[in-house]
Amino acid sequence: MDSFEFRDGALHCEGVPAEFIARAAGTPTYVYSRATLLGHLGRLTRAFAPLDPLVCFSVKSCPNLAVLRTIVAAGAGLDVVSGGELQRALAAGCPGERIVFAGVGKTDAELELAMRSAIGLLNVESESEFAALVSVARRCGKQPRVALRINPDVDPQTHRYTSTGKKETKFGVDIERARAFFRDRAGETAVRLCGLHLHIGSPVFRMEPFVDAVTKALALIDELEAVGHRIEWLDLGGGFGADYFSGQSPAAADYAAAIVPILGERVARGLRIVLEPGRSIAANAGILLTRIIHMKSGGERAFAICDAGMHTLLRPSHYDAFHFAWPVTPADGLVPPHRAAEMALPGLSSVDIVGPICESGDFLALNRSLPSLKRGDLLAIFTTGAYGMSMASRYNSFGLPAEVLVDGERALLIRRREEFGDLIRGETPTGEALELPSAQAAGSR
Ligand code: LLP
Repeated sequence: MDSFEFRDGALHCEGVPAEFIARAAGTPTYVYSRATLLGHLGRLTRAFAPLDPLVCFSVKSCPNLAVLRTIVAAGAGLDVVSGGELQRALAAGCPGERIVFAGVGKTDAELELAMRSAIGLLNVESESEFAALVSVARRCGKQPRVALRINPDVDPQTHRYTSTGKKETKFGVDIERARAFFRDRAGETAVRLCGLHLHIGSPVFRMEPFVDAVTKALALIDELEAVGHRIEWLDLGGGFGADYFSGQSPAAADYAAAIVPILGERVARGLRIVLEPGRSIAANAGILLTRIIHMKSGGERAFAICDAGMHTLLRPSHYDAFHFAWPVTPADGLVPPHRAAEMALPGLSSVDIVGPICESGDFLALNRSLPSLKRGDLLAIFTTGAYGMSMASRYNSFGLPAEVLVDGERALLIRRREEFGDLIRGETPTGEALELPSAQAAGSR
């Protein structure tokens, strides 16, 4: 469900023709729809309203400050996984108590920043991290609220790179270890160990993994409370799906229908719930606009070589992810009636959409049936609002793309395209002498 529609033969984002945005901002450019962002956030918030959750948008999915401000202004909080993301959350005006901080490798400096920012919930992922947290808390004189990330050992049935809830992952601790964790550490007064956190993977298109994970978490809460611990917070993480093709993902209401009934009674007794949705809010709220630099054939294959590639959108080459692609002003009025992996319209021909990077794995879409294409045509790559810009790189010394936020008839530049100067900032061609520790100081470490 989104605000990217073909009208009069041309793709529009809300009230603005996509072609106008490309002419004004250049390409490649990520374009976000404010109405779509807020529509998804609103539907999720309403669906889960019976649990009165703290909804914390996952910054990693789409970290642009203007996007974060839009979401924070609508009342949501933010989920961060690094000091950089935490600073973004604060810069976007998010109150500390609406920020939750997860992540498997937080440094002492990041933990200290989190405590000084008085964030709502610090999610701890290991015994070693807990020990570091305690000493940082003592040093700063803060007593943060802490949730232990548990790993409920359910299979989210998603790509192995984004599957995080099985026992053998680097994330969280298994249920057995969680019991020992509370037994040995809940008495620690420097922090308030009072919550559980989980995130089983992303995207999860079925209900069972969520139901299993929540059921296991509640059983653990029962056990912990039976031996005298108090669990006030349960953070369910993110992982809800998005429509990479039409109708692929359950709606927020479907996820809520499966999850809310299991938690209702607990919430009535005072348990606070956190949700950390990223993709389900942002993915369908963004497209990537890219221009075809050259058309070319190789053997039987036709290639549209674009100014965006794996450096702009990593998901196709990294996860074999499907993103629907279509020309913004399709030849012969061949407007797509829906978005599907296989499009069956008369007059289409097969093409690979690839980038300019010097790697054969640099592609955006392979073997797609599309209207006829030519040099200079503008393509839209759909469902790229989440994990698009946030995973873009400067590989091959291309600057990062521009970002535009559309609000009705208005288009705002929310990040300018990077130039050569941005690429080399911080480099010192002749080198700078590093002050190395003396042999004695180094030896005493
Ligand atoms: N909370 C935690 C602790 C997470 O690790 C994640 C995502 C989220 C929330 C948000 O999940 P979402 O609602 O967006 O599914 N780069 C991959 C996705 C990696 C997700 C990592 N963690 C992709 O492009 O598919």
